[in-house]
Amino acid sequence: MGCLLGIDIGTGGARALVIDETGAVRASAASEYPLSIPRPLWAEQHPRDWWDGVRACVPEACAKAGVRGEDIAAIGLSGQMHGAVFLDARDEVIRPAILWCDQRTAAECREITERAGRETVERVTLNPVLTGFQAPKIVWLRNNEPDAFARVRRVLLPKDYIRLLLTGAYATEVSDASGTSLLNVRERKWSPEMAAAAFVEENWLPECFESVEVSGHLSAQAADALGLRAGTPVVGGGGDQAAGGLGSGIVKPGLVSSSLGTSGVVFAFAGSPFVDDKLRTHTFCHAVSGKWHVMGVVLSAGGSLRWYRDTFCEDEKRAAAERGVDPYELITASAKDIPPGADGLFFLPYLSGERTPYPDPCARGVFFGATLKHTKAHFARAVLEGVGFAMADSFSIMRGMGIDATQARVMGGGARSAVWTQILADITGCPHVTLNVDEGPAYGVALLAGVSQGVWGSIEEACSAALVPVRTVSPDAAASAAYQGLHEFYTSLYGSLKERFAALNDISRMGAADG
Ligand code: XUL
Repeated sequence: MGCLLGIDIGTGGARALVIDETGAVRASAASEYPLSIPRPLWAEQHPRDWWDGVRACVPEACAKAGVRGEDIAAIGLSGQMHGAVFLDARDEVIRPAILWCDQRTAAECREITERAGRETVERVTLNPVLTGFQAPKIVWLRNNEPDAFARVRRVLLPKDYIRLLLTGAYATEVSDASGTSLLNVRERKWSPEMAAAAFVEENWLPECFESVEVSGHLSAQAADALGLRAGTPVVGGGGDQAAGGLGSGIVKPGLVSSSLGTSGVVFAFAGSPFVDDKLRTHTFCHAVSGKWHVMGVVLSAGGSLRWYRDTFCEDEKRAAAERGVDPYELITASAKDIPPGADGLFFLPYLSGERTPYPDPCARGVFFGATLKHTKAHFARAVLEGVGFAMADSFSIMRGMGIDATQARVMGGGARSAVWTQILADITGCPHVTLNVDEGPAYGVALLAGVSQGVWGSIEEACSAALVPVRTVSPDAAASAAYQGLHEFYTSLYGSLKERFAALNDISRMGAADG
C-alpha cells in the first residue's frame, strides 16, 4: 500500500495533502485564488481557478513528499460547501460559481419554501432553505439570468466539479449534498419534491454516494495533468465541514469541534438526525456512513480577521515580511494585552451576512463603541472577541439541544493563534483541545481514501489510530466571568440593528440599480 492524497477546494485556495498508511503527513501544498465580490454581500469564484489551483498544488505536494504518481493509492475530495457550478450540455461552465457566503437569494428562499411548503422543507431537508444553500442559487439564475438558465444541464457543488475533471463522473456524496436543500437528509437520497420546488430537472443532479464509497477513477487526461496514475480511485469525500470533522476525529457521540477557518463552525457528531427546535443550527449527513452531524456556522470568522489584515494592516504585513513571520502573529500578539471587552469596543462579525444564530442575509459587520482611547490593538482584539461571541452563540444553542459541549477540539487556521484560542475558551467557557494533526478537511478525506482501500477498517479506526490530543486550553475563570456580561451586551447590538441592516440593504440595492 502506498500513500493517500487529500484535496480541498477551499474559499481562499486549493490544498493538497499526502499522508502515508500510518496517517502521518508526508507533505502538503497550497495554491491561492481570488474571491470576487461583485456587490456587497455577493461572492463568486471561477471554477477554472479551482482547477488551476489543483494542477499547481497536487504535483507540488507529491514532489515534496517524494512520492511518484503510482504511489498514490486513492484520492479523497473535500471543498467549500453549497456553491453552484452551472454546466451546459458540453460541460462548459456557464457563469462564475455563486458561493456559500453569497446572500443574493433571499427572495428565492421564500419562493422555494412557499412552493414546497414549510412543513415539507423542514421534514425532508431538516433545515430551512437558506441564502447560502445551493437550490436558491438555481432559482436565482432562473429569475435573473434566464438565458444562462436555459443552457443549464447539470448543477454541481465545487468539489464535485473538480471530481468531474478528475474522473469524468457526475457524482457527489451525502455530506455536501445535505447543503443543497435538495437532499432528503434523513433518508440520504435526493428529494424529488424539493427538486421540483427549485425547478431542478432530475438528470441535472449528480449520483449521490456515501462519503467513503469510490465515486470514480482518475482519467488518463487528468492523470497526465497531475502526474498521477490513471485509474486511481477517487472516493466521495466530504463537504469541508464534515471532512474537517473527520480530520479532527469527531466520529463518535460526545465529541465537538470548533473550527476557525474562513467561516467559524461549531460541529457535533449526531447518531440520529435531530434538530434545534428553531432550526438555528444545521443538521446534515455526516461523512461517517449512516450518521449525521449538527453545526452552527459563523460566516466570517477567519474571514473577518483576513479582511481586517487586508484592509488595515499594511504596516504589520511589511513588518512581518521583514521579520519572516506571519502578519496574523503580529496582529493577534498586539491584541493580547488589551483587556477582555476591549475597553468597550465591540465587533459584529457579519461581514457576509450571517447564518447561526441569525439567518440574516442583510446583517453587516459593525465596530461599536469607538472612543479616542481605542488603539489599533483594541480593534484587533474586538475582531477576535466578536468572532468568539458568535461562536459561543452556537455553543449555547447546542447545549440547549442536549449536546454535551463541555470540551471542544480546536482546528482551522485561527486555531494556530494561542491568543485567539484562549479568547475562544474564555468566551465559550469550554476547554479547547489541540490535536497532534491539524490539517483539517484534506486530512479527513485522505483518511477516508485509506478506509476505502482497506488501510483502516473504518473511519473511526483511522481517527483513533492517527489522532492524539496534545494540549488543553482551559478557560480563565476571571475572563470567562467578565465575558458573560459582555456577551449579553453584544447580543443586544444585533437586536438594535436588525431593522437598520434591512433598511441599509434596500438603500444599497437602489444604489446598485442606479449604478
Ligand atoms: C458550511 C459553510 C462553510 C463553507 C466554507 O455550511 O457554509 O463552512 O463550507 O468553508
